[in-house]
Amino acid sequence: MVIAIDGPAASGKSSTAQWVAEELGYQHVDSGSLYRALTAALLRQGAPPERWTAGSMLAQAGRVALRPARTAFTALIDGAPADEEIRGGLVTSLVSLVARVPEARQWVNARVREAAASHDVVVDGRDIGTTVFPDAPLKIFLVADPWERARRRLTQRLGRRPTDDEIAAETDILVQRDARDATQTVQAKDAVLLDTTYLTQAEQVERIVALARAVSQRPSGS
Ligand code: CDP
Repeated sequence: MVIAIDGPAASGKSSTAQWVAEELGYQHVDSGSLYRALTAALLRQGAPPERWTAGSMLAQAGRVALRPARTAFTALIDGAPADEEIRGGLVTSLVSLVARVPEARQWVNARVREAAASHDVVVDGRDIGTTVFPDAPLKIFLVADPWERARRRLTQRLGRRPTDDEIAAETDILVQRDARDATQTVQAKDAVLLDTTYLTQAEQVERIVALARAVSQRPSGS
C-alpha cells in the first residue's frame, strides 16, 4: 500500500506523512530528504554548485542511502543521519538545483520505490502521485496559504512565535522555492486536494487516515 502526499514547500507534508504513517502502522518515506542529502553530499565534496553536473550528482549519490527504522526511513550520508545539515539554509537554498536534474530524480525515485517494495508506506514529495507512484490508491495534495506555511515553518525552526517581519522574509523564500520547483510540483488528477490553512495538524491527519481506511476497505478495482 502506498499513500502519496504531495504539495508545495512547507505545506506540512512531512510532519503529516509521519503522523499518518504512525496511525496506520506504515513507514514514512520523505523523498525530499533524499534530494536534501544528495545536495549536502555535493557540498561536503566541495565543488562549487555552478560546477555540479548529472555525473557528479550520481557519483555523490553513492554516499546517500535510506535506512528503515521503526516508523520512518532515514536518509544517511556516509552511513550516518545528518538531519540538521540537510534541513539547514544552505542546503534548502541549493536543493532545487539538484532536484531539476532528471538523473538525480531517477536516482531518488529508484530509492523510494525500493523502500515501498518491502513496506506499506506514506511517501511525501512533489511528484509522488504523478511520477513515482501513479497507481497509488490514495493521493493527497496539500496546500496552504504561503504566509501560513512560512509562519508554521518558522515556529518549528525557532521554537517561538515569529515576528511579522520574519514571516514576510520567510514567505519570500518559500515562494521563490515554489517557483523553482513548479515543474515537478503537480497535483495528480485523482488526488484529494486538502487546503490546511485553517486546519490543525490533528484535523488534517484525521482526514487522511479516514480516507486511507476507506480505501483499504474498498474492493480492489473499484
Ligand atoms: O519540506 P519542504 O517542502 O521544505 O521540502 P522537502 O520536501 O524537504 O523538499 C526539498 C526539495 O526537494 C524541494 O524544494 C524540491 O526541490 C525537491 N523535491 C522534489 O523535487 N521532488 C520531491 N518528490 C521531493 C522534493
